[in-house]
Amino acid sequence: SGDFGVVAHDDDVPVGAAWCRFFDAGSHGYGFVSADVPELTIGVVAGRRGEGIGRVLLTGLIDEARQRGVASISLSVEADNPAVALYLDVGFVEVSRVADSPTMVLDCRTA
Ligand SMILES: CC(C)(COP(=O)(O)OP(=O)(O)OC[C@H]1O[C@@H](n2cnc3c(N)ncnc32)[C@H](O)[C@@H]1OP(=O)(O)O)[C@@H](O)C(=O)NCCC(=O)NCCS
Repeated sequence: SGDFGVVAHDDDVPVGAAWCRFFDAGSHGYGFVSADVPELTIGVVAGRRGEGIGRVLLTGLIDEARQRGVASISLSVEADNPAVALYLDVGFVEVSRVADSPTMVLDCRTA
């Protein structure tokens, strides 16, 4: 309940998606921080990366979160994933680290 997402299309072809899911302490992903902070997942099809689609998906998802009154979004990412630069650029901050994977949180109200 309350999960939401966005899909990028090129004409009628889906080329990427990003979504936020709410979890609880008993069952969650690597980026879990609390039950009222949904976890972000994002992916762009392999042949279409580096064209700006991921940034559009991410900013669209953040806009949707704001409209829904969602205060914060979390995620987990491997430290060497180039996506870290994108997350930092839109305002995510590292709050903890599991193995070598930062957990990052965005305050949607100030992003
Ligand atoms: C992460 C992902 C969604 C980014 O989508 P994308 O469409 O490739 O990203 P964009 O083209 O919008 O790039 C946005 C920013 O990401 C960073 N970035 C993305 N790919 C990069 C790469 N190969 N090298 C360096 N920086 C990169 C850059 O900071 C870029 O900023 P810029 O617009 O100033 O150049 C996409 O690469 C992907 O699906 N990767 C595989 C799945 C994955 O790792 N998901 C995230 C798990 S946490």
